[in-house]
Amino acid sequence: MRMVDLIIKKRDGHELSDEEIKFWIDGYVKGEIPDYQSSAMNMAILFRGMNKREIASLTDHMEHSGEIIDLSDIAGIKVDKHSTGGVGDKTSLVLGPMVAACGGKLAKMSGRGLGHTGGTLDKLESIPGMSIAKTKEEMVEQVNKIGIAIIGQTASLVPADKKLYALRDVTGTVESIPLIAASVMSKKLASGTDAILLDVTVGEGAFMKNMDSAFELARTMVDIGKSLKRDTVAVLSDMSEPLGFAVGNNLEVKEAIASLHGEGPEDLMDLCYTSGSIMLVQSKICKDLQEAREKLHEVVYNGKAFEKLCLMVEAQGGDVEYIKHPEKFEVSKNIIEIRSEADGYIKEINALDIGISAMKLGAGRETLEDTIDMSAGIVLANKIGAKVAKGDLLCTVYTNKPEEEFLPVLDEIKSAYKFTDEPVKILPVIREVVR
Ligand code: URA
Repeated sequence: MRMVDLIIKKRDGHELSDEEIKFWIDGYVKGEIPDYQSSAMNMAILFRGMNKREIASLTDHMEHSGEIIDLSDIAGIKVDKHSTGGVGDKTSLVLGPMVAACGGKLAKMSGRGLGHTGGTLDKLESIPGMSIAKTKEEMVEQVNKIGIAIIGQTASLVPADKKLYALRDVTGTVESIPLIAASVMSKKLASGTDAILLDVTVGEGAFMKNMDSAFELARTMVDIGKSLKRDTVAVLSDMSEPLGFAVGNNLEVKEAIASLHGEGPEDLMDLCYTSGSIMLVQSKICKDLQEAREKLHEVVYNGKAFEKLCLMVEAQGGDVEYIKHPEKFEVSKNIIEIRSEADGYIKEINALDIGISAMKLGAGRETLEDTIDMSAGIVLANKIGAKVAKGDLLCTVYTNKPEEEFLPVLDEIKSAYKFTDEPVKILPVIREVVR
């Protein structure tokens, strides 16, 4: 078999056999197939697509390219959650402790942020002392003890995705439904969970820009999970504006802490309650969504969910004093307020622009080697639909960058906003649930 023939076959719109997909993935992981041929194949897939059988085969060979985690030493149903990425998405930090406080078992392996999207691991590492490097055995022990662990993916988990994702990121081939579906599902399947809740983000700040493509991605991933006997459900959530108010690592941790004290933004809490209810039913802890929602409410307002976050931070070596007294978190040297230059209703806060601006302020990385400034970012003062007058606060910017670097970013943040004279219809954060 020759890789060039497989590229030509896909380029011309033909179906690849299971054997051919295995040849590509195995050869690429072993270093026998070079990056340039894998890039060409990714581009051919982006344009020509893959059918269900090809996607299932790609997922399977990627999943088995490395270690398969066995979580059978954790008692009960293990449930995991994965988001396809967004801006201001601190859901795991709120939802994880909420579900664990209700008795759920969450052994979560997370990734880092790249480009305009943030990553849960970076947010966790903004808590001094917090370690995300745990062995599988340590993770199992922690979940058995307190119900939750969020750690970094081990190097041996789905090496095919590590290589392919890095390649896609620099060759314009991230936004392909078959490639995203196989990337996400291979990692979830290899990480040993019984049930999977997928958060497929849709809108400017997400990979899927419209409902049709988000639905297709969700349907594809749910079908892969089901065909492999994992209870898989997807929620489609809005990512046209940032989720919640805070964008940036320790700023988002502070918002997560407030949320676990019952003071969370409406969109974030809506997403946590809906996703959490599905996860509790998947875990067979609750018989229906209504009972699950009430239970989740209870643990937020009686402090049990906050307690779980403290236990997790403690178990992973983090300084709990920061969680109990968030005012201890480092604050950036430069704090700049951006105010409205006109009267009107906010029609748009472009999540992609806000995500890129936050990255430029120091909150994210352009390449995997970049270091992150944990205190940098943007805190919105209001959301789409708010009525503002000239001079009202739109958002506050936090950065340690010098003035010549952050001044142009302030203009970019201003242009992320669009206004109208008419009241704006506010859409719910959850657009659809796919089962
Ligand atoms: N998240 C992933 O894990 N993989 C993708 O391809 C896109 C988003």
